[in-house]
Amino acid sequence: MIGHHRTRAIALAALAVGLGIGLGWAADKPMAEPQKGPPAGKGPMGKGPMGKGGQGKDAAFATDRDTFHFLLENHKAITRNVKKLDNGVETVTESEKPEVAKKIQEHVPAMYERLKSGKGVRYWDPLFAEAFKHGKKMKMEITNTAKGVKVVETSDNADVVKIIQAHAEVVSQFVKNGFDEAHKEHPVPGSEKKK
Ligand code: HEM
Repeated sequence: MIGHHRTRAIALAALAVGLGIGLGWAADKPMAEPQKGPPAGKGPMGKGPMGKGGQGKDAAFATDRDTFHFLLENHKAITRNVKKLDNGVETVTESEKPEVAKKIQEHVPAMYERLKSGKGVRYWDPLFAEAFKHGKKMKMEITNTAKGVKVVETSDNADVVKIIQAHAEVVSQFVKNGFDEAHKEHPVPGSEKKK
């Protein structure tokens, strides 16, 4: 563990970085994770300018990040099946390991909440930035299974359906490749032509 003074120094540095880059768009960019101090909400970070923002480190951020890092670390213990629907996807994501299954069950509603509140993560990844822009047009039905979750994620908007399906493929890549995949950017469907 790091000492108190060091924690404060890191928190202040984090604040400075946050102010420098505006709203903390780099939340969870692998190279930009100065937030190793006290749990969000309890330390100086929790009440800082980034605590309120739509894009960046809010009170739940540290918990949510720990959860998806745990899932990435344990990616080999996760199985996933994706079925495309006309209006979205139906996915089953599970693990034989109860502690992993539990984290999957925590991760999905937390991310759905973020889609609804607009407090996103991973804004440096174009596909995720786009998903959070349209989160309110997405609907997720989450059913816990004995070993994980079944999710039906849909939208009435055809472009948003493409984002949902592209995102589901990225989750499958996270499951397959773990952190190697999490370090990559993922394109928004159709953006290849525009750029
Ligand atoms: C092995 C690692 C991971 C697993 C097993 C996992 C699992 C899931 C599942 C089951 C869903 C519901 C949608 C679907 O099934 O397609 C989901 C949604 C989501 N996940 Fe993850 N995830 C992982 C890693 C991550 C990481 C690293 C991030 C961000 C840094 C993340 C952010 C999100 C977000 C934002 C959503 C909601 C957006 C949407 O569905 O359009 N996940 N994840």
